[in-house]
Amino acid sequence: MPSMAPLSSGNKNGDGNGNVPGRGNGVPFGGHWGPPESTSATPSAANEAVGKRKATTLLPQTRVTKRQALLNQRRALPIASVESELVNHVKKNETLVVIGETGSGKTTQLPQFLHSAGFCKGGMMVAITQPRRVAAITVATRVAEEMGVEVGQEVGYSIRFEDCTSPSTQLKYMTDGMLLREALLDPLLSRYSLVVIDEAHERTIHTDVLFGLLKGVQKRRQAASTATKSSKKKAATTGVALKDLQNLLTTSKTPLEKKNSALKLVVMSATLDTKGFCEYFNGAEAVYVQGRQFPVEIFYTFTPEADYLDAALLTTFQIHLEEIPGDILLFLTGQEEIESMERLLKERASHLSPKVPKLLVVPIYAALPSEQQMRVFQPAPDGTRKVILATNIAETSLTIPGIRYVIDPGLVKARAYNPRTGVESLEVVPVSKAQARQRSGRAGRERPGKCFRLYTEDLYRKLEDSTVPEIKRCNLANVVLQLKAFGIDDVLGFDFMDKPSRIAIVKSLEHLYSLGALTDEGKLSDPIGTRMARFPLEPMYAKAMLISCEMGCSEEMLATVSMMSVDSVFYAPRDKLQEANNARNRFISADGDHITLINVLRHYIQEAEEAGAGAGAGEAEDTSSNSNSNENKKVFKRIRSWCTANFINARSLKRAVDIQKQIRGYVEGMGLTIISCGDDMLSFRRCLAASFFLNAARRQLDGTYRALASGQSVAIHPSSVLFGQKPDCVVFNELVRTNRSYIRNITRVDSLWLPELAPHYYAAQALNTPCQS
Ligand code: CDP
Ligand code: MG
Repeated sequence: MPSMAPLSSGNKNGDGNGNVPGRGNGVPFGGHWGPPESTSATPSAANEAVGKRKATTLLPQTRVTKRQALLNQRRALPIASVESELVNHVKKNETLVVIGETGSGKTTQLPQFLHSAGFCKGGMMVAITQPRRVAAITVATRVAEEMGVEVGQEVGYSIRFEDCTSPSTQLKYMTDGMLLREALLDPLLSRYSLVVIDEAHERTIHTDVLFGLLKGVQKRRQAASTATKSSKKKAATTGVALKDLQNLLTTSKTPLEKKNSALKLVVMSATLDTKGFCEYFNGAEAVYVQGRQFPVEIFYTFTPEADYLDAALLTTFQIHLEEIPGDILLFLTGQEEIESMERLLKERASHLSPKVPKLLVVPIYAALPSEQQMRVFQPAPDGTRKVILATNIAETSLTIPGIRYVIDPGLVKARAYNPRTGVESLEVVPVSKAQARQRSGRAGRERPGKCFRLYTEDLYRKLEDSTVPEIKRCNLANVVLQLKAFGIDDVLGFDFMDKPSRIAIVKSLEHLYSLGALTDEGKLSDPIGTRMARFPLEPMYAKAMLISCEMGCSEEMLATVSMMSVDSVFYAPRDKLQEANNARNRFISADGDHITLINVLRHYIQEAEEAGAGAGAGEAEDTSSNSNSNENKKVFKRIRSWCTANFINARSLKRAVDIQKQIRGYVEGMGLTIISCGDDMLSFRRCLAASFFLNAARRQLDGTYRALASGQSVAIHPSSVLFGQKPDCVVFNELVRTNRSYIRNITRVDSLWLPELAPHYYAAQALNTPCQS
């Protein structure tokens, strides 16, 4: 059993997760807030603590520089008092598990401790993985600020489609998926002395794969290091001058000694449940960094809420009108929901009496451009209450100061996978108890707070204890492709912390085989499989890029794949539905959503070019936000107003343009050329059929659709341009499950193309029946 060394003592109340046992249970709300608090940490004690901390940060404000103020904040963090102990533990252990409550300073401070302790000497780097892009960006930016450097220099970040690092980068925050990609190019991760796997409790699919891979890298680096040491010894005894050997070691391009030094691992988690990690990492030691957690009063609804968005809206205004100052954090399931809530809140807030304090609405979600993500950390102006609308990114990955109230509808958007049918979908599902606790804990970081759960206490009791690791509930095709690219052919035998089911692995092997990525022997095919693995895309999209190069429409597929990689570019405010629909009609293709999206992108780029931004429409916005150039501002303004007039989400589109540029780089890097089919959309639709044949659906006699690969009954999503049109056969890109299974991003195809273009998958006789109308 690993030891749990308490590293610091602090003001810790409740159950350690922000809950005060026995408080708030069954207290009604929705007009009637609970009784005044009389919690285990008395409000006065809590206020005193806040007062003390404020004194350290605010007193010298007039005289000190911003950097010094940051330093004071750093020193006040619970982790600061245990720096040397922590560093010693890291030095002593090959792998160390660090547990600490959210906000204790793990993510921002520990890497800086390691930097000071010399882990980045001799050109080596420390990688810190994050499950989410937003966290990687905001945390790297914060740490750069704390260290007084430009982000991208000593402290940088790397996320899919965006590399903000330089040769001088020493602390590299990156998504777990990016480290996996790096390992493909450099299997020993030879530039890293240490890897921190942060937010390990989230158990994303990439984190789980990294676990297994890093264990392997540690073994190989250990073995290589021992071998180097013994050859040195041998050289010394056989008379080779040690100086010559040292010269050899230091003059080689990647110094052998560095390459072969051991790789250390730090696994960081916000939840106490570390047994699994310690056991998996061969009995690794775990240390506990105590955080500050003030009591949080929990409120439940008496009866289930019919519409959680309405309930959330109501609760926000009730808090705003009736509760003492403090910011609100509202958890929502995704970008679209956040954007519509943002509009609703702003609209209603504009009708508030001028006597009521202002309400500042700030969204935070993965697709938000980085410069806007930082807004959540800025304090609201005096007399204004901030409402942060966040996805589960704010559960543990980001610690946002100033929050006193949490509203938790109890839902999260998660991947779900049915291994029998091979169907993966995005579903809004209830959170686990662990997630609900983390969410409520966000209200008690700086002082006592309140959490409003928009569900009944009975429902809370029925929630799962913890979230099922993602690897057990998603399509493994991408993971298996990556493992194969690492040369790990026995995927079933891979050292997973939690093994995915055999059937899920077999299904993903079949999937890859039908895409042509694997040979009959189950090895990566060349060049198709090896090229597919190089793309930072799901295998089906990677294959689509390759096919489109052969079919003469890679420009269009590039646009499609880029638009599929971002959240919806259309938005339709409730009060302007008709106008929004009219705007969308300008882009609509009767053939379906893919060509419609291509039309949007083409118009956008044309508009940007006319405005003077050149082909890089995305860059126009970037530079304009950072520069004072009037010309750029004009371009930026024109593009913005084009987006507004067309009810287009400028952020999503800008990101799509960025992604397009990057994938273009990958394609060209493989020596392939990007060609446009111009207006020959028939060729392009054939290419869509050849690429997405695994996602084909056919209309049935009763008017419903059947997904051909899974046999599942599906319906066309109301957001599709083909909604209500009943084409005979379609290919789709997304399956969303709400009250029924909907397909989204759809294009009509000829059913006969399927056996023609994917003969290995569709037997001709099964599909060449006449249209079932
Ligand atoms: O990783 P952990 O949850 O333990 O804490 P952290 O992310 O290192 O955050 C430590 C402190 O830095 C918190 O008090 C945050 O409020 C603050 N922080 C910030 O103000 N701005 C950021 N961009 C990141 C962290
Ligand atoms: Mg953290």
